[in-house]
Amino acid sequence: MAGCLSMSFIFLCVFMCCCSERVMGGDPDSLQDFCVADRQGKVLVNGFSCKDPKMVSAEDFFFGGLRRGDTNNAVGFNVTAANVNQIPGLNTLGISLVRIDYAVDGINPPHTHPRASEILVLLKGQLLVGFIDTTNKFHSKMLKKGDVFVFPKGLLHFQQNVGVRNAVAIAGLSSQNPGVQVTANSLFAANPPMPDGVLTKAFRSDKTVVDFIQGKFM
Ligand SMILES: *[C@@H]1O[C@H](CO)[C@@H](O)[C@H](O)[C@H]1NC(C)=O
Repeated sequence: MAGCLSMSFIFLCVFMCCCSERVMGGDPDSLQDFCVADRQGKVLVNGFSCKDPKMVSAEDFFFGGLRRGDTNNAVGFNVTAANVNQIPGLNTLGISLVRIDYAVDGINPPHTHPRASEILVLLKGQLLVGFIDTTNKFHSKMLKKGDVFVFPKGLLHFQQNVGVRNAVAIAGLSSQNPGVQVTANSLFAANPPMPDGVLTKAFRSDKTVVDFIQGKFM
């Protein structure tokens, strides 16, 4: 009986180790060479169903659109994405990238990617970057051209152009579809809006302050 129990315990441990390894990685591993996204597919799966491999061509793995984004907006930055929505061949491969353009003083405001870690390389300019971990410790660096910085999966992070010219970065992400949640917009520009009572309490503030900030997102 005791032997039986310990055997099941070992199996349970092995099973849990296998599972937790999956949870710690990025997107699930591919079980074939590729599974090019079939956007017309009627089957609902985690990602997109596969296009017939005989119909796949080099175009499915190509994107010609990673050009300069227009930074003429309230925060002075622009993210141009190259993920499964632009490149169907990325389906099931667990990677994607973005190009980020920053105007002088521009920021990529504090945000999170629910499904991806990010590795950023600065191609031009000077950036202040940072993330906050779950103990609220702030990890920050000043980057110059050629420097690389990592933002761990799910953690709140930002980049700010502190140079005198525009800046450009490329970032790789460990998901075909990293997702993004911009914290200020989520809190102050949700639709329908977050209840005032939640925001006033959370920010230890009052309705005047909350209304003022919400007004900035109109
Ligand atoms: C980002 O740049 C593209 C291409 O110039 C432009 O169409 C888009 O409106 C810009 N997005 C923002 C938020 O400014």
